[in-house]
Amino acid sequence: MNTIYNFPVMTAEEAAELVPDGAKIALGGFTPAGSPKAVPEAIALRAQELHAQGKSYKLDVLTGASVSSSIDDKLAAADAVRWRAPYQTSRLMRQSINADKVEFVDMHLSEISQMVDYGFLGEIDVAVIEASAIDNRGRVCLTTGIGCAPTFARRAKKVIIELNSYHSPRLAEITDIAFIKPPPNRYPIPIYHPLDKIGIGHVEIPPERIAAIVETNRPDEVGAFGDCGEVATRIAANFVQFMLNEIAAGRVPRNFLPLQSGVGNINNAVLKALGDNEDFPAFCMFSEVLQDSAVELMERERITGVSASSLTIMPETLQHVYNNFDYFSHRIVLRPQELSNNPELVRRLGVIALNVALEMDIYGNVNSTHLFGSSIMNGIGGSGDFERNSYLSVFMSPSTAKNGAISAIVPMCTHVDHSEHSVKVIVTEHGVADLRGLSPRSKAETIINNCAAPEYRDYLMRYITSSRGGHIGQHLDNAFELHLNYLKSGKMLP
Ligand code: COA
Repeated sequence: MNTIYNFPVMTAEEAAELVPDGAKIALGGFTPAGSPKAVPEAIALRAQELHAQGKSYKLDVLTGASVSSSIDDKLAAADAVRWRAPYQTSRLMRQSINADKVEFVDMHLSEISQMVDYGFLGEIDVAVIEASAIDNRGRVCLTTGIGCAPTFARRAKKVIIELNSYHSPRLAEITDIAFIKPPPNRYPIPIYHPLDKIGIGHVEIPPERIAAIVETNRPDEVGAFGDCGEVATRIAANFVQFMLNEIAAGRVPRNFLPLQSGVGNINNAVLKALGDNEDFPAFCMFSEVLQDSAVELMERERITGVSASSLTIMPETLQHVYNNFDYFSHRIVLRPQELSNNPELVRRLGVIALNVALEMDIYGNVNSTHLFGSSIMNGIGGSGDFERNSYLSVFMSPSTAKNGAISAIVPMCTHVDHSEHSVKVIVTEHGVADLRGLSPRSKAETIINNCAAPEYRDYLMRYITSSRGGHIGQHLDNAFELHLNYLKSGKMLP
């Protein structure tokens, strides 16, 4: 058998055989960035073969965040998953979860490492970690997504390394791996600026636990964003104007505060709008994901630096970063998600949190995860880590979905991920609702008048004026009338 520093080198298919039926497997990476590719695919294939022979094969699959959609798609298609946590973005995995074929646990991403360390999630049998380099002492340089890989590598009984020569080992220069001590011996985390580093650039794995090295040469599966679209552009313009007003009023410092920005078309449009507006100061990011638009803005010095857990950027953008590494290495820090999303740091650094909602109610509660109270979309991801602890928690959404048949602003959310107590600002293409200091009644009027689609405003206003009163005006008999209308007739407004 081939070896690298005495570690056995295997094909992905051979390595997949190290993962028995019923095992709990943990995959490194964060989003498609840095997630292992060849071994999970080989596992999916093996599951299909075993099922064809009438044998059982199902795994519990734990990740840092999402992985490449095709990986989750393949595992779901192969019926290879019994339990999945904490986040996914795959169409087929979503279908399996909603069909109750996969048990899914939707969790705050900052908590996963601690939960694994304390054994809340049981033992990890096998971790699969993507690496750009390894040495004879089991020191491993990760690739573009750090996520929970350091914890998985530390806790798993066996570790399989996908050694991916596509990636630059120089990634170790921007990687900052540190572990937080368990309570009651936990100290404040000494990060005072998003770019402060407090750890080391590699993961240390006891050599005897490295069960296999699988050599690969594959890019991350990060897709392109389409054109931002008119609605996203209007949402972004509303957010930028709101922030300029906040700076002018002295409620946000003139040099701005660190920004957290989720991934997607709307967040992309916001970053572009902030970057293009010369009245807006250059700013830094304390976020979980660094996306394509941030790379260009760093080069234009509109973004001064980014702390994140992954470089979720398209292969050509990543090559550009590799080719200009001397420039970017001083401007990017990649951390474990326990640090990139850490509530203590988010509160202390005064992060402005910018996330996208599926549905928002007139009292400021936000649903990011479940359609009609039942079907999961992706999961809460890191949104709760940031929004609950931020200086300003902003949620953005188009005011309608499905060509206007659905209002994103409803009397009562069918599922609540972020509550009225911490959601501060809502932005749609129609305007901004600044909820700070407002009573429930004033929040409702502001959200309806500033953010709801015009055709839904009368209905929503009637809902509050005809409610039974109390501190929060509700109609328990028709709080979900709009949703029920849609389920019956395909339109919320008959
Ligand atoms: N009711 C019913 N369906 C709705 C809806 C609503 N209120 N709002 C949107 N939809 C539908 C859309 O029509 C679309 O359907 P389709 O797939 O059939 O086209 C689908 O839901 C997705 O909507 P879209 O507007 O394209 O979502 P998005 O890609 O902008 O993602 C979230 C929005 C909320 C799903 C996404 O941001 C997310 O998963 N957030 C939670 C995690 C998070 O915030 N992570 C970042 C933290 S750093």
